[in-house]
Amino acid sequence: MAERKGIILAGGRATRMYPITTVVSKQLLPIFDKPMIYYPLSVLMLAGIREVLIIVNPEDHNSFQELLGDGSNFGIQITYKIQLEPKGIAEAFVIAEDFLKNDASFLILGDNLFIGSGLGRNLSQVEFKYGSHIFLYEVDNPSDYGNVEMNNQGQIIGIYEKPLTPKSKYVVPGLYICDATARERVKNLKPSARGELEITDLLKTYLEENLLTSTILTRGTVWLDTGSARNLYTASEYVRVIQERQGTQIACLEEIALLNGWITESKLKNLPSFSFKSPYGDYIRNLVS
Ligand code: TTP
Repeated sequence: MAERKGIILAGGRATRMYPITTVVSKQLLPIFDKPMIYYPLSVLMLAGIREVLIIVNPEDHNSFQELLGDGSNFGIQITYKIQLEPKGIAEAFVIAEDFLKNDASFLILGDNLFIGSGLGRNLSQVEFKYGSHIFLYEVDNPSDYGNVEMNNQGQIIGIYEKPLTPKSKYVVPGLYICDATARERVKNLKPSARGELEITDLLKTYLEENLLTSTILTRGTVWLDTGSARNLYTASEYVRVIQERQGTQIACLEEIALLNGWITESKLKNLPSFSFKSPYGDYIRNLVS
């Protein structure tokens, strides 16, 4: 892969959080001390991705633009595209057509949090040429997610969306790598019973051609999906506890940019966040030696 590209899917209806999300995008709600979108964006940046497309609902475009701009404050390039209707996660690859051209991409869901040491290094080291690569995570409630069946060699032999009887404890979190053929594959998919273009159906097309590989995320990686008020609260509390214990920030975009060598200290000192009178601002000021 040449320059790696990333997509954050940050549209959706967020009905499970009504009334909170009737007038505000779920992905702009706070996870403790930052907007939710910071977390998936930090994962892409940790994976070394500097070209990012954020897909949003029409009414939220200005807010995201105001929050993150063109990405230059974080040493990356952010562009935006609108999803008119939440027609499913797999539609991201169609909406991203102009952005992707003929490149592969990482797709991350805007409401998924991945936290863990070495995560960025692991993601940036995934050898990827063609096909699709997914990440597997062991959970206690596999029936709530896309669930995989594996053979004795640990190869995936089946994927099932929210099965009543799960085939394993492993599920597919909201982080996928797909090659440039994803777009055409999605165009050939039929919407599911709930009227969506399902990511599981897209992955199945790769599986049928033996083009689906996977990495198991270790227990040291925390994956939280924040789609319900309860989960949002849990994620906030998790971030608060870790940050206060360690004195470090999770998903501080300016810090990642600095560590990656994408912005200089002098650039950092000129960013609006350098003057924030908040603990986040204090942390950023402390990054400068
Ligand atoms: P979901 O949590 O499956 O859907 P949702 O966010 O609309 O919430 P609810 O089920 O409460 O109505 O979506 C997962 C993520 O993907 C979330 O960040 C929103 C995003 N998404 C889109 O941007 N477009 C879509 O068409 C869908 C289905 C999801």
